[in-house]
Amino acid sequence: MFVVAGATGNTGNVVARNLLEKGEKVRVIGRDLERLKALVADGAEAFQADLTDTFALARAFAGAKAVYLLIPPNVSSPDFRGFQNRVTQAIASALQSARVSHAVTLSSIGADKPDNNGPVAGLHEFEERLNRLVDLNVLHLRAAYFMENTFPQVGNIEKFSMAIGALDPDLKLAMIAAQDVGAAAADALLNLNFRHKQTRELLGERDLTMREVTQIIGNAIDKPGLPYVQAEDDQLRAALIRTGMSLNMADLVLEMAGALNSGHMRPLETRSPENTTPTSYERFVEEQVVPLFEGSAAA
Ligand SMILES: NC(=O)c1ccc[n+]([C@@H]2O[C@H](COP(=O)([O-])OP(=O)(O)OC[C@H]3O[C@@H](n4cnc5c(N)ncnc54)[C@H](OP(=O)(O)O)[C@@H]3O)[C@@H](O)[C@H]2O)c1
Repeated sequence: MFVVAGATGNTGNVVARNLLEKGEKVRVIGRDLERLKALVADGAEAFQADLTDTFALARAFAGAKAVYLLIPPNVSSPDFRGFQNRVTQAIASALQSARVSHAVTLSSIGADKPDNNGPVAGLHEFEERLNRLVDLNVLHLRAAYFMENTFPQVGNIEKFSMAIGALDPDLKLAMIAAQDVGAAAADALLNLNFRHKQTRELLGERDLTMREVTQIIGNAIDKPGLPYVQAEDDQLRAALIRTGMSLNMADLVLEMAGALNSGHMRPLETRSPENTTPTSYERFVEEQVVPLFEGSAAA
């Protein structure tokens, strides 16, 4: 039996579904049983738990062949690094008391660095903490920048006729669809061909700049030549807070963007067939971004 945390989310849902499709037994963790119903209908066992609750997690992990783990992006937290720390401690203690032998974690590019990388510093600590569990075989999947991070560009394009962000327009960035992260994690769980403590980068289909990303969206919605504008941190901070993000999280997000722009956060592996994944940004836009525009059939 496999245990999947964050099972209603971007990557966990794909992990759970891929395992179920292979006929595996899957226990899915979420805070609300209602949101887990669709997975239960497909054969999963639901387990209600908060990822900061050590005792609940120890019960959730009991009997697992392997587990999928992540730290949820709790964007409204006034102390996100503190939240990450609580989740890390709870997961580590629960893995130990449930004597779990194999875990696959969702980490990030840049998690090799302990600081000046925004929320990714918490993933560095997550990796380090789990690496201290002597009996655990753990694979940390260091994923690239999610294509899903560009969803807010739909609102920017509709309101301001431009894409706006903190990233340098010409920075070449490895970008990955969350579904590819989930698929890679499911494969790792099915194969269990990792030993001791390992990391593996997932770099998406190819590197893209924000200018290219904007061009791809523009072409898909019949607005060729759509511009991308790199905004000032003060403007972006205010905009992020208006979406419901805490000031603390907004500052961490901007720190991470700065770390990507400066190269402090970057892949360590050379691109190869092993760390390249199938979904192109063009396909992602066609399937997931275009339907969000007003006037599209799905909207
Ligand atoms: N965005 C990027 O570019 C990027 C790149 C690399 C790595 N990452 C990492 O990816 C991770 C997020 O993965 P994701 O996108 O798959 O997550 P996600 O879609 O945001 O899903 C997280 C799930 O966790 C659950 N959750 C939230 N708070 C919880 C809590 N307190 N206790 C228990 N469950 C909770 C939620 O489910 P319920 O509401 O059902 O409980 C939610 O569906 C983060 O660690 C992030 O750093 C992101």
